[in-house]
Amino acid sequence: MHQINIGMIGGGTVGSGVFHHLQNNGALMESRLGLKLSLPKIAVKSLDKSRAYNIPKSLMTTDWASVVNDPNIHLIIELVGGTTLAKTMVVSALKLGKPVITANKALISAHGEELFALAQRYGTNLYYEASVAGGIPIIKVLREGFAGNRITHMYGIVNGTCNYILTRMKHEGSDFQPTLQDAQKLGYAEADPTLDVDGFDAAHKIGILASLAHGFWVKPGQIHVEGIRPVTKTDIEFANKLGYTIKLLGIVKLIEGATSARKSKSVNRKSIQVSVCPTLVPNTHVLASVNQVFNAVFVRGDAVGDTLFYGRGAGKDATASAVLSDVADAALDLKYGLKQRVAPFVAFEKNGVVLPVDEMVSRYYLRLSVMDRPGTLAKVSAILAASKIGISSVIQPEGHEGDTVPLILMMHTAPYAAMKKALVKISKLPVVKTAPVMFRVENFE
Ligand code: NDP
Ligand code: HSE
Repeated sequence: MHQINIGMIGGGTVGSGVFHHLQNNGALMESRLGLKLSLPKIAVKSLDKSRAYNIPKSLMTTDWASVVNDPNIHLIIELVGGTTLAKTMVVSALKLGKPVITANKALISAHGEELFALAQRYGTNLYYEASVAGGIPIIKVLREGFAGNRITHMYGIVNGTCNYILTRMKHEGSDFQPTLQDAQKLGYAEADPTLDVDGFDAAHKIGILASLAHGFWVKPGQIHVEGIRPVTKTDIEFANKLGYTIKLLGIVKLIEGATSARKSKSVNRKSIQVSVCPTLVPNTHVLASVNQVFNAVFVRGDAVGDTLFYGRGAGKDATASAVLSDVADAALDLKYGLKQRVAPFVAFEKNGVVLPVDEMVSRYYLRLSVMDRPGTLAKVSAILAASKIGISSVIQPEGHEGDTVPLILMMHTAPYAAMKKALVKISKLPVVKTAPVMFRVENFE
């Protein structure tokens, strides 16, 4: 029987999960795939560290290159993280013609195009199912399941750490910092958790999904990113009173007739909007009920209509499941000698453009901290009216202690640029005491 020998680099949260579930389900996978799977070598940084699932010392080495270069190893799994050493590891394996599996969304987001091209040049493949939305097989869905669709909208709760924090802030009144520490203990957060809470990890993921769906590589710098640090319990409470839940939402929209595309010489430009921001989601929408570490990706295709994919978005077990699905694909490709049965990414769109954030038209939630004085609301609304921005509702709670009071405004749709300009003027009003806080409101139309 065909045997695939796997070399893994990284035995931390995800790596130890892969080891454990391959132990548990390896025989099942072997009977499904009709081949034998073996994991004889695992490279780590420290042999003495305690791990979420125990890995026998006899399998471990601190010399990753000896794993990649071992002629008996057919397939490499990279579970180290980061974009420097991990890139060297992946490049070394691809140059030897060895297929690579990675869960590293930062790496794919930053260097995906280059690595996919390298894989092609060396007649092998790069698999990255675990890089987006943990256990949800969303890469396969977009690459294969929706091949016959034009994707018009994607909405994703794609960072488990942020969703865990926002859920506990809403349901338990928890504070941000200790809840982030809990997420770290549970193995959800990145080694550098600012990647999670400042929205960059979600941006890496939503950029990968946007690239796959629209056929041109969306670079991290082209994505408008805001994280969850500005979200307070006050915002969560007021959003709820207005019928909304705050989620860190990645949004990809196909925009017909965008201004910058019209201005450009090329008439047939495909324009998309890609962003990650704290967003008010109506409580009646299914995404408002995606809680804790769970992720969900909502995809609207012109043929299929609305679809939703839900599952655990982080942690050792769910992520291991996604890595093992790539192991199955890679093992079958090796068994049958298929170099690129399904290309990791196909650049089918030559005229794609990511719209500048200023053109993003949306509804907005605005929280101001103002002096509790007659005429304050009139001053704020005069600035908004002069910017042609309509207010749809206002809350100014009674019975607040101190001189200032929160003023919450919900806006009708407005371009981001107009909102930003108006906010600069509003923040200069003497009655406005702290920097305004603005979040997007999404109605999924
Ligand atoms: P960990 O920090 O838990 O694991 C990293 C592993 O890399 C450790 O085992 C570490 O060794 C090893 N390592 C570091 N440097 C070297 C080196 N020079 N040589 C060999 N091994 C080395 O990270 P995670 O498991 O959480 O994440 C791994 C990847 O998976 C990242 O790209 C992350 O973004 C991604 N990911 C993580 C998810 C999660 O829920 N945690 C979910 C989806 C993707 P040692 O153990 O000895 O320190
Ligand atoms: N830190 C990431 C998250 C891990 O919290 O979603 C999964 O990619």
